[in-house]
Amino acid sequence: MPTKPTDIGTNRTGIATSPIDSQRTIKAAKAAGAGPSPAHNGHALEVERIARSRDAGPVGTVPPPATVKGMAKTLVERLQGHKPTVFIDKLGERLAFERTGTRLYEALLAKFEVAEVHAGGPTRAELEKIRDDEHRHVGILRDAMLHIGADPTAMTPGADVVGVAGLGWIQVLTDPRTTLTQCLDVILIAELADGDGWMLLTSLADALDFDDLSKQFQAALVEEEEHLMLVRGWIAAALLGQAGVAPTPPVRSV
Ligand SMILES: [Fe+2]
Ligand SMILES: [Fe+2]
Repeated sequence: MPTKPTDIGTNRTGIATSPIDSQRTIKAAKAAGAGPSPAHNGHALEVERIARSRDAGPVGTVPPPATVKGMAKTLVERLQGHKPTVFIDKLGERLAFERTGTRLYEALLAKFEVAEVHAGGPTRAELEKIRDDEHRHVGILRDAMLHIGADPTAMTPGADVVGVAGLGWIQVLTDPRTTLTQCLDVILIAELADGDGWMLLTSLADALDFDDLSKQFQAALVEEEEHLMLVRGWIAAALLGQAGVAPTPPVRSV
């Protein structure tokens, strides 16, 4: 039987492993004045962060629409008086997110292949369907950006930020040691943000009178809600199965 992360092993990270050394460590930390007290290191760090943030420029900026001249007159009128770069930034951000989502599910498929899937867990077909949904969403956003004259290949500042934020998710999903269940926990975080992202984008499209785009975004949101429901169910099933309280023994569902 291969070792599972929930097996008992030689984990020495907790202080309970070494009561004598832990007492010495606590004593030394107290003597050095360490801790979150504002009078100590925490405050100096905050001061430094504030100073750096005041001087720093933004992560990036939004490129000018590539096809302003070719942009339909109705579109130009619709965006007049508003700041279209906010919409473009969010479209770029969502595009980057959906691309990461596609990659997360691609990586999850490999986890699925080596997992002992519990009753109530995902099937390969279900995971592939979500991966395909995320990939299709990338296309919706690409077309939306082209529609308003923006360049979908440009990394907007929002896209940059979600890309960086998602690095941890990718690391967990592509680490050979992580399990399907651990990866589903990460996928759950992504799906929660995914739904909220579409909700915001739909509101923005509505406010800017892009009814056609809003409808497409709403359809994507419905799919995201389905993803979320499925992932929640799979995690619950896996945990109940692993804790030995599931009504049925583990099965490999395909
Ligand atoms: Fe998505
Ligand atoms: Fe999703």
